[in-house]
Parts: sequence; structure tokens; C-alpha cells
Amino acid sequence: MCGIVAYIGPKDASPFLLEGLQRLEYRGYDSAGLAVVAPATRTAPARLKVCKVKGRVADLAAAVPARFKGGTGIGHTRWATHGVPSDANAHPHTDNEDRIAVVHNGIVENADELRAKLTADGAVFRSETDTEVLAHLIAAHRTDDGELEDAVRAALKLVVGTYGIAVLDAEQPDRIVVARNGSPIVLGIGEKEMFAASDVSALVRYTRQVVHLEDGELATVRADGFRTFTEDARTVTRQPSTVDWEIGSYDTGGYAHYLLKEIHEQPGAVERTLSGRLDERFATAHLGGLNLDARELREIRRVKILGCGSAYYAGEMGAQLIEELARIPAHSEPASEFRYRNPVIEADTLYVAVSQSGETYDTLAAVQEVKRKGGRVLGVVNTVGSAIARECDGGIYLHAGPEISVASTKAFTSTVVAFALLALHFGRIHDLSPADGRRIVSALKALPDQIREILEQDAEIARLAAAYADSQGMMFIGRVRGYPVAREGAQKLKEISYVHAEAYPASELKHGPLALISPELPTVAMVPDDELLDKNLTALGEIKAREGRVLAVAHRPVGPRLADHCLVVPKSEPELDPLLLNIPLQLFAYHAAVALGRDVDKPRNLAKSVTVE
Ligand code: AGP
Repeated sequence: MCGIVAYIGPKDASPFLLEGLQRLEYRGYDSAGLAVVAPATRTAPARLKVCKVKGRVADLAAAVPARFKGGTGIGHTRWATHGVPSDANAHPHTDNEDRIAVVHNGIVENADELRAKLTADGAVFRSETDTEVLAHLIAAHRTDDGELEDAVRAALKLVVGTYGIAVLDAEQPDRIVVARNGSPIVLGIGEKEMFAASDVSALVRYTRQVVHLEDGELATVRADGFRTFTEDARTVTRQPSTVDWEIGSYDTGGYAHYLLKEIHEQPGAVERTLSGRLDERFATAHLGGLNLDARELREIRRVKILGCGSAYYAGEMGAQLIEELARIPAHSEPASEFRYRNPVIEADTLYVAVSQSGETYDTLAAVQEVKRKGGRVLGVVNTVGSAIARECDGGIYLHAGPEISVASTKAFTSTVVAFALLALHFGRIHDLSPADGRRIVSALKALPDQIREILEQDAEIARLAAAYADSQGMMFIGRVRGYPVAREGAQKLKEISYVHAEAYPASELKHGPLALISPELPTVAMVPDDELLDKNLTALGEIKAREGRVLAVAHRPVGPRLADHCLVVPKSEPELDPLLLNIPLQLFAYHAAVALGRDVDKPRNLAKSVTVE
């Protein structure tokens, strides 16, 4: 979703801004723009220069005039919410005197009301966006002898909604003012130069020293430093932290796409999620961040997992693990629905929010709803220090590494591993025997090598994906543990290849979807070698009897009578099998998308982190 970058220092801002915007492309966007303060000359005062276009960052780079010089600048990639993607609606937005320029992530909820008032006072709006309201509002509070930060503070007091903003003032080119409320802003500290962005990935080439603003905080950023303060002008001290990921984590590293790289990074990601958390002596897991002792955990009677999209499906696998290993009722629900149904919050229920980015607005709002009603929430989150991680009472960091591609793969897998650790920990506090605990511990340790084994089938999966890619749609089926695998497999295929895909429990086929089966609608079937094997094979027979094509993902070869093709994956313990069955489906979706010529890392209409409702 929208991205912000800002630079102030002795160099020209625009090369950094363009590169930073390129690094934020993965978040999804439809237009891009820059503003710099062109320095005063002997004949003219300093003034704003703005360049913005509908389209890609490359289009913006081509449109930026050669004389677009200035050491103070802001940039933006926009994902349309208010108004169509267009040059006029692209950010930055300016006031009528072109003195103030603003880039904004988030939504101004009272934009219509503010716009009406500003228009009555003489402002002329040049876009349909809520952001332009901010530019006029800040200009209206800007006095000739006042400070930009005071005008920004005064303006933001009138705003209802969420924002991460960066503001330029042509008359105060020695500073950029940034503010955060519900949409991230991170400052980057350089040598006599400073950076800001909505996402650390835009900064890591230039500095590893960063400061994350908290909600309700602002900062004045100058070339030689920064000052953070609250909306009431109270100074707050923020210590820089060091970004611990290698710069290479933000590159494709020789792979054709980030998605392929991230699929192949999964063995390492799983090793990091497990690192230091397995206790072989007591056959359990150590999860230091839960902030719950064994006695408190024993009092939990139910687990409710909240997440969106793939995070919700990973939660379904997590719920299954918790029920099986700890025998505690557990259920996963879309966070986007949860808060709208006035949920009953129970004291003995543990709520678990799942989010790779830690910034998904629907999940954050669900966490806030639980907390407002006195519930306890843990976060299973990849991005350290993100909004959801900070809002939760405790949790498990995935340590999967930065995930750039819009489609989640390594974070999904690491989330399931984190749930396996939580389920093991819970189980061993309840009735999971030491022998079963040891069984799970050794199965978890074996996962990285088993994933490597599956990844070696990449070429074979690519061949199959190309053969199935032109299908009019695909069905994904599985039973019980296999059903969330089918759901995630269908999700991955549809989001990156745009091939329609539906997931069903195999047991439901006869209750409706069997009517769809034909040679044009192939089925991808999960066929683990578990207690439901015979029932799964029966379902395949029913599909084949109706001339359906079948690709089985199985632990043992399924012959041509029941499946046209079969991918054999290594067997784990039954509780962990779903995690491995999912890996070939990621490669299948990836190669189908490549075969269809899709923009794999940036699928249409989607954004990496959905920071609006
Ligand atoms: C995953 O492939 C999707 N892009 C999407 O469903 C994603 O998982 C969802 O938007 C939640 O994101 P989060 O994990 O960052 O909260």
C-alpha cells in the first residue's frame, strides 16, 4: 500500500527518493510523485518543485525534469482510496500558494467536512484526495513568523483518521516534519543527512540506524539530526535501533523474483523461527515473549486466532495444532470480520493476532477491540516493533526475514512453525506426554531439510504448473488438516496468477462442488498418508469418474487411475504434515503465474500490507 520517503542533506534529494520509492514498489501502488524545495537564487526565493504521475516509479523517473534540484524532498507511491489513480490525485499535494507539500499514508475520515470548511475559506482543491485537505489545513495554520511543526500539530488536532505524513515548507527548507498515527514512519540517521520512510526497506542502503515513531508522535527532521515530540509539543526521547537484516535481504539475490527467492529461503526462515526455542530435555518449547507463566496458561480454556488472508489460513493450521497437541478448543477467524460483530470477549480465552507485516489495519483494529474489552492478546508477527507487535500483550516473533513479495510464503510457513511451538508449549503444560513432545520436537528439527527436499522438485513443479496454468479455474481439496492447506493453495494461485481457484473440504464435494468437475476444471488434492488416506482416495475416484484432471500432493505416489500427476513430499508427523504439503503449492502458484506472464511480485490490485480498512 502507499509508501513514503523523505531526504534532507547536502545531496540532491531526488535520486534517493526515486530509489527509495522503487524499494517500496512491492507494497503495491498506482501512481508516484516527488516534491523538492529548490534553493533560493539571487533573483528568486526557495520554491517547491513537484512532479507526479499515474503509473510506475519508472514513469516518474522519466518524467522528472533535469533541473529538479534540491536537498530537501519527499516522495510517495499511492494506492488509490479517495479518487481514481491519476496524475492529479498522485501525491505530493500542495496548498494554493505551493508553499506546503504533503505526502500521506492512511485515511482522513473527516476529509469531506474539512474540505467543505477549507473551500468556504477560499481553498481551491485540485484533486479528489483526502490528503489535499492536509496541505490546505497546514497552510491555513502556518503563520509568517511561526514554525512548520506548530502548523502541522495544529492541523492534525482537527484530523480524524489514520496517517503517516511527511511535510515540506518552501519557506523552511532546513526541515521536514513527519507525523505518525496508525501508519508507520521510521527515521533513518545518516552522516550529516537524514532520511525518513514508511518502511525500513527504503532506507537500508543508506543507514542501519533507525528510529520508529510511535502513534501520536511527530518529528522535525534536519540534516544534522531530529527531534521527536507529541501532539502537545512535549519533547520525547527516542533512541535509535540498528536494523539487523543484511542489505541483501532486500534484493532478489539473483532469483527471477522476490517470491521465488522467499520460497527458497524457507529452510533458513524455519531454522530462525525455531532457533533457541526447542527444549529437548523437557520435550517442550521456550517462548520467552509470551509474558504468561504456566499457571496463567493453564487457566486458558479457548484460543481464538485472528488474521487476514494467508495469516488467517496460517491461523487455521495453528488452531488445528493447538487442538491436537494441547486439546484446547481453538478457532481462527478473519480479523476483518471479527470486530464488526460485537465479539464476546471471554476472560479465559487467549486471543492470538497473526500478521507478517504487523501493520494490517483490520488485524490491528481487532486487537484493539479485544483489548478495549479487557481481553489478552498475543501477536505472531514477523516485523519487529510493528504496530500490532506493540499493541499485543506478548507474542512470538517469526524472524523469517523481510518479506517483500506481496504473496506471503516464508512468513506463512514460519507462522505455522510458531504455532507448532505454541501448541507444543501449551500441550506440555496440559496432557501431551513427554514421548509425544519428543516426537514433535524431532519433527520440527527435521523440517528445514524436508523443505529443502521439496524445493529440489522446483523444475518438475514448474513443468506441471505450465501444463495446468491455462485452466479456466482450479479446485483445491483437503480434509481436516489438509483443508487449510487447500485454502492457502487456492489463495496463492488466485492472487498471483489470477486463475480462479476454490478450496473445499474433500468431504463436501458431493454436497455441491462435484457439479463443477469437468476436464476444464482440474483439482489439486491433498493426500497425506494419515488416518483419512482412504477417504481422500475415494474423493479422487469420484473426480476421475467425472473426467476431472487431478494433481495429487501426497506422501506416497498416487497412480494414474486416481491422479493424472502426483507430487510426492516427505512425511513429517501428522500434525506438521500440512506445513510441508503447502510448499509445493507455493511453487505451483509461482510457476503458473510466470507461465501466464503475470507481475508475480506485485499482483494487480493488491498491496503488501493493507494499512486501510
Ligand atoms: C498473502 O499472500 C496475501 N498477500 C494477504 O492475504 C496477506 O496475508 C494479508 O493481507 C495479511 O497480511 P499480514 O500478514 O501482513 O497481516
